[in-house]
Amino acid sequence: MILVTGGAGFIGSHLVDALCGEHDLVVVDDLSKGRMENLAGVIDKIKFHQMSILDKNLKNILKDVTTVFHLAAQANVRRSVENPFFDLDVNVKGLLNIVESAGDLERFVFASSGGAVYGEPERLPVDEGHSTKPISPYGVSKLAGEKYLHYYSHVHGLKTTCLRYSNVYGARQDPFGEAGVISIFIDRVLRNVAPEIYGDGEQTRDYIHVSDIVAANLAAMIRVGTFNIGTGVETSVNRLVEVLSEIAGRDVPVVHGAEMAGEVRRSFLSIEHAREGLGWEPRLSLVDGMQKTYDYFKGLQ
Ligand SMILES: NC(=O)c1ccc[n+]([C@@H]2O[C@H](COP(=O)([O-])OP(=O)(O)OC[C@H]3O[C@@H](n4cnc5c(N)ncnc54)[C@H](O)[C@@H]3O)[C@@H](O)[C@H]2O)c1
Repeated sequence: MILVTGGAGFIGSHLVDALCGEHDLVVVDDLSKGRMENLAGVIDKIKFHQMSILDKNLKNILKDVTTVFHLAAQANVRRSVENPFFDLDVNVKGLLNIVESAGDLERFVFASSGGAVYGEPERLPVDEGHSTKPISPYGVSKLAGEKYLHYYSHVHGLKTTCLRYSNVYGARQDPFGEAGVISIFIDRVLRNVAPEIYGDGEQTRDYIHVSDIVAANLAAMIRVGTFNIGTGVETSVNRLVEVLSEIAGRDVPVVHGAEMAGEVRRSFLSIEHAREGLGWEPRLSLVDGMQKTYDYFKGLQ
């Protein structure tokens, strides 16, 4: 049986859609951020438990679980700064509780973060050999999760795959969240509110569509290792606005706010290791991915 933690969330629910039908699935999500609507199409075919990953009773539920996709997390960088203890509990103790509670565990696929575990990029694109010096409690807790999995793999033979995602976007992303600039901008454009750019808009990231993240998780079912999962393409916020203007068929007006303190100026990931080691590569271009996301949010109106 396969467990998806955080399966009612943005990325997790897409993964559940992809796995459903092919596998027996159990989903654990406390619905702190996730929503039952995200599971509407599959709810009859899965076992769903509204529970925290910190719950000690998980042992009873997870005794037949052999494979875990672990996506449940405190995923908000700012919140991790405000409350590092909470972040530690959910992201580190929660991960440990899942590993220790799953009865016949053979394989563990972990949603880590390419934006958070490396810290300030010393070179670009950032490859997996780059130093890991996280600059937020969230980055520290994701890295600690990876290290615990290394221990379980080395000492207990657990097959582990750590996927270091870049900036993920797509349908079901919370447009009012902290991250997810593409979804935030699309939502604003559809409401005729000017998106706000912090600073000059030349800051860059690596934006990957959620369907490519799902494909990487599926590829990880037969591979082990630590992989960056991004597009390898560097995109500025100004470029996002350009693409959005093309999609919306009009010039999108923006407002400029103050630069975010401590924000990394440029960041994008090398994905060569994932290409070779996972046999995976991203399929959706930024334009196509943004169009799909735009259509989704438009459909919600
Ligand atoms: N979205 C991105 O750009 C991105 C980038 C890098 C890594 N990640 C990682 O991918 C994973 C999924 O992120 P997402 O963007 O889908 O976020 P999300 O908030 O939509 O999903 C996380 C899910 O975990 C659930 N959850 C939180 N705390 C829980 C707990 N204690 N017990 C049970 N469930 C709990 C939430 O309700 C939510 O459904 C996270 O681990 C995140 O750190 C995301």
